[in-house]
This record gives sequence, C-alpha cells and structure tokens, in this order.
Amino acid sequence: MARITAGLTTSHVPAIGMAVDLGKTEEPYWQPVFAGYEWTRQWAQADPPDVVVLVYNDHASAFDLRMIPTFALGCAASFDPCDEGYGPRPVPVVEGHPELAAHLAQSLILDEFDLTLMNELDVDHGLTVPMSLVYGSPEAWPTKVIPLAVNVVQYPPPTGHRCLSLGRAIARAVASFPEALSVQVWGTGGMSHQIQGARAGLINPEWDAAFMDGLIADPDAVAKIPHIEYLRETGSEGIEMVMWLIMRGALGGSVEELHRFYHVPASNTAVGHLVLQPAP
Ligand code: DHB
Ligand code: FE
Repeated sequence: MARITAGLTTSHVPAIGMAVDLGKTEEPYWQPVFAGYEWTRQWAQADPPDVVVLVYNDHASAFDLRMIPTFALGCAASFDPCDEGYGPRPVPVVEGHPELAAHLAQSLILDEFDLTLMNELDVDHGLTVPMSLVYGSPEAWPTKVIPLAVNVVQYPPPTGHRCLSLGRAIARAVASFPEALSVQVWGTGGMSHQIQGARAGLINPEWDAAFMDGLIADPDAVAKIPHIEYLRETGSEGIEMVMWLIMRGALGGSVEELHRFYHVPASNTAVGHLVLQPAP
C-alpha cells in the first residue's frame, strides 16, 4: 500500500525563484532565507519520496478569469514550468505520476470532492519555488509530483474546513493505492502578505506563529478561521494559508514537528516553513 510519510509547508515567493535562477542565494538579503531551508534540503535529499502531492495555487498563469477551478488535480505525465511574463524558469520539467493521480481522482470524486482533472497543466512559481527550496538546482527533480491547484486568487476560495477535509480524503485515497509508494504532501503559499493596495507590505508575525502552532496541535480549530480573519490579520494574499490545511489533513491525527523556520522579509512576504511527520 502507498503511505504518506511526511508533509511540509512553505511560502512560494517568486523572487526566491529569481534568486536561485540568477545565482543570488548567497547575497546578504537572500542568505538567511536559504539558510532556513538547509536542514530540509539535507533531509529531503537523503530520502526523497516516490511522489509529492504538491498543493499550490496558480497565479493567473495556467488559469485566468475565464476559468477558475476550485480544486484542480494534475493527471498528466509531465508539467512544464510556465512563462509568467519573464520566460519560463530554467528548472527541470516536473514529472507526474498518472497512475496515482488517476487513483486519487477516482477515490476523491467518489468521496464527494468534485475535482477538476487536468490532463495538461503548466505550473508557475507556486509549485516550482517550493521544489527549488527543497531540492536546490538538480538536473532532474528527484521525485514525481502530482500538482493540486487550489483557487485562492478569485473570491470565493474554499474554506479552511473544506481544505482540511480534502486532506483527510487524500490520506484515505493514498492508503487504498495498492503499490508500495512513499508519498509526501506539501502545502504552499503564505504566510502573511499583501502585495497590492493600501496595506501592501503587511506582515503579522504573532498571527503567523499562532497559525503554525494551531496547525500542528489543533487543526480542527484552525479550520474554523473565517476568510475575513485571514484577510484582516494577514493581508489579502495571506488567504493562501488555507492550502496548508490540506497538507495537515493528509497527515492524520497527531504529528511530530521536525523543522520550523520563519523569516521576514522575502519580497513582500513573511516566509514560513514547517516539516512534519505523522506521530508514531
Ligand atoms: C509574492 C508572494 C507570493 O506568494 C506571490 O504568489 C507573489 C508575490 C511577493 O511577496 O512578492
Ligand atoms: Fe502566492
């Protein structure tokens, strides 16, 4: 049977991808950001999973206002990095896992999560920046990836509760896949940030810290946080954090915290990062 072995969360700031691609990771502004992922890079490279279910949001790259799926599952054999206006990132093509994706589609839809199935999908910084943070700059990514794109760009996004429930359904789906695969679930985006408007630059470290603590210890309470609280307390883009609840739901009851990192600033964003594993 397939097993979920660990989960992680991380911000996905596009400027982090630029720092990697332009060789600026050792510059004084960026060095502390990448240092916070050093533990994770060692951990991840020592034992990469067979597959990562990578929860992210598309930022009007593959989708636009003509078409906004709430939850879109990447079922293709591969996913190209997309052109976000300055050319595609020079990172490897992302290899998918069509067999597990088809199984997830069947299990989740029969479990009453009405996903959009993507047989072609180009992936933006929401997915590729976490890959760079965790795996650095290899010739080929060491793991296969099933993208799960969540709408947090156009109101109304899904509730935190819906996201937590979807994560729990992903755990059931993975557990019923007959092949012995190791699977990680990653939740990306956040933490507090607002990149436009009068409150651009808003950061709320106290709220972010409480969110990380709650996500670990009491995800059902965190799942009750209404959209308006994310917007008020963490800025308009802080709503990306609902995606972390999908990761948390997939890890089950209690979890062990392996690594935590928090740093301000990276561009307009508070960078937050957790590595968790299901408690033994
Ligand atoms: C920034 C952060 C994001 O999460 C994003 O998707 C785009 C930009 C930023 O801080 O610049
Ligand atoms: Fe984002």
